[in-house]
Amino acid sequence: SRPVSPDLNHCVDGGFTFKCCPRRSAKKIINFTPPPPYSPFRVRRPAHSLDPAAAANYSKAVAAMRALPPGHPWNFFQQSNVHCAYCSGGHRQTGANISLEFSLALTRILDHQIHGSWLFFPWHRAYLYFYERILGKLAGDPTFALPFWNWDHPAGMSIPAIYRRNSSSLYNPTRNPKALKFIDIGGCEPDASARPSLEKQRQCNLRVMHRQFAAASNSTELFLGLPYRAGGESFPGGGVLENVPHSPVHINTGSDMSRIRTAARDPLFFAHHANVDRLWAIWESIAGNGSSKAFKDPDFLNASFVFWDENMQRVRIRVRDCIDTRKQLNYHYEDVQIPWLNMTT
Ligand code: C2O
Repeated sequence: SRPVSPDLNHCVDGGFTFKCCPRRSAKKIINFTPPPPYSPFRVRRPAHSLDPAAAANYSKAVAAMRALPPGHPWNFFQQSNVHCAYCSGGHRQTGANISLEFSLALTRILDHQIHGSWLFFPWHRAYLYFYERILGKLAGDPTFALPFWNWDHPAGMSIPAIYRRNSSSLYNPTRNPKALKFIDIGGCEPDASARPSLEKQRQCNLRVMHRQFAAASNSTELFLGLPYRAGGESFPGGGVLENVPHSPVHINTGSDMSRIRTAARDPLFFAHHANVDRLWAIWESIAGNGSSKAFKDPDFLNASFVFWDENMQRVRIRVRDCIDTRKQLNYHYEDVQIPWLNMTT
């Protein structure tokens, strides 16, 4: 079998244009162990209705993350660089044992790439998991849970208020001001001639959600993306939802969020991806007949990634460790209304 895993002894920066390789570390990589049963459970809630105490707690923890020394693995920019290195060809696949010149020529083939394949959902789930645990540590609150950007509900279809205050650690000045009013999740900006109606735009977003989810719902490949194995070319094909609504939300949020290398420099990234992660959980929960709908293919289940955890360990986590958020990772999403699910269009 050929599961993909990153070679962390080598990271290549993209020349002068961007640098996001994490600080080298000789620290031994240990295997992930799931949180013990009865350890604190975390409930991720919609950002637009987060209670003020939880919001203050969150922004304080992110401020602490920003204040860490620049080379600290928990530092806000180091954390955002994790996403960048995994998406920019920074890491190579392990097992690709060939000369440097040769690997430079084949860099598109042999890099370890977490977009455009079946790695998309599990990699982002694992990334958010460790990010959340680190924030929980900084906040001194093991129940700390990331809020999610509920852009699939009319009440959540704009940048949530907690990210807007320019004195907050959750603020990012580069966002598109349009998204303060309405976030278009896939072709729902009215043309110039039409009289804009927020209500119509929101309905359009709901129809996009309904259509995309329905298109992907009966097929694991259409939902999670196509197989990606060691030695295989990057970007074999992402799932339907990675394409829309995931990408338009990035692009329409603007600047940092609109480029994958810089996306995780905007705290909104984590709310956006929590919602994407929630859609995976919703898909899993619908008509799963009690068994997971994810691939049973060992190359999927044994693919692995490495992150710094909340105990300053370097941890290897496999896709099989993060299929069920409740049972394996001790978190879930608040059960909010899903207006697009049974919509008739
Ligand atoms: Cu790794 Cu939303 O991108």
